[in-house]
Amino acid sequence: MHLLIPAAGSGRRMGSDRNKLLLSLLGKPLLAWTLEVAEASDYITWIGIMGQPIDFPDFEEILANVSLTKPVKLIQGGATRQESVYNGLQALPATAERVLIHDGARCLATPDLFNRCAEELFRFPGLIAAIPVKDTIKITDDTGLVQDTPDRSHLWAAQTPQGFEVKLLKDCHAKGRQWGWEVTDDAALFEKCDLSVQIVPGEETNLKVTTPMDLAIAEFILKQRVS
Ligand code: C5P
Repeated sequence: MHLLIPAAGSGRRMGSDRNKLLLSLLGKPLLAWTLEVAEASDYITWIGIMGQPIDFPDFEEILANVSLTKPVKLIQGGATRQESVYNGLQALPATAERVLIHDGARCLATPDLFNRCAEELFRFPGLIAAIPVKDTIKITDDTGLVQDTPDRSHLWAAQTPQGFEVKLLKDCHAKGRQWGWEVTDDAALFEKCDLSVQIVPGEETNLKVTTPMDLAIAEFILKQRVS
């Protein structure tokens, strides 16, 4: 199965002036941890990484150190995650029927989660890893005034991997560009096209490393795993 890794973001919320995926986590760049998970997943046979060309020399160095057995392609990312995934989809080999998309910043996902998503993708045309929301969620107006409290039993925190039939997702992305839809994950495009998206149980530790606090938590979790 093909895997696309959006890795073309910046380190703004991390307070860093470089791509946060190049930051070191227990002596290895964040992206290296993510690639090792992809390498260890039985189902992944091809990896595309969307990045900004300025980061490609660093990506090449990471790839040299991780020594993957699977073919890897570096793909130019876009100005938004959505654009980066769009570019990734165009760069897939013509034979690709199903694709997993996994944020480079979720470096704590396990190969088991990848395998479960890959297996389920033979049963469902679209799916996402997600976990039940623990907090009570409030919906506010622009001034911060609470408008509603949705029933928590139906709320899920979306993660990646997200998986899709390639043809369907390509069509959804094309429609998104045509109609100017701006979304933060690929499942949202699927939903907008009235296609169903199945939840696959995600992992509580599969956090998206976004802030310096996340980096500290990720380090803690990885230390538990390697010790
Ligand atoms: O910024 P955020 O952490 O939400 O980004 C999620 C993932 O999307 C990250 O792995 C990031 O590198 C990627 N991304 C991208 N292209 C962008 C912005 C973000 O591939 N223009």
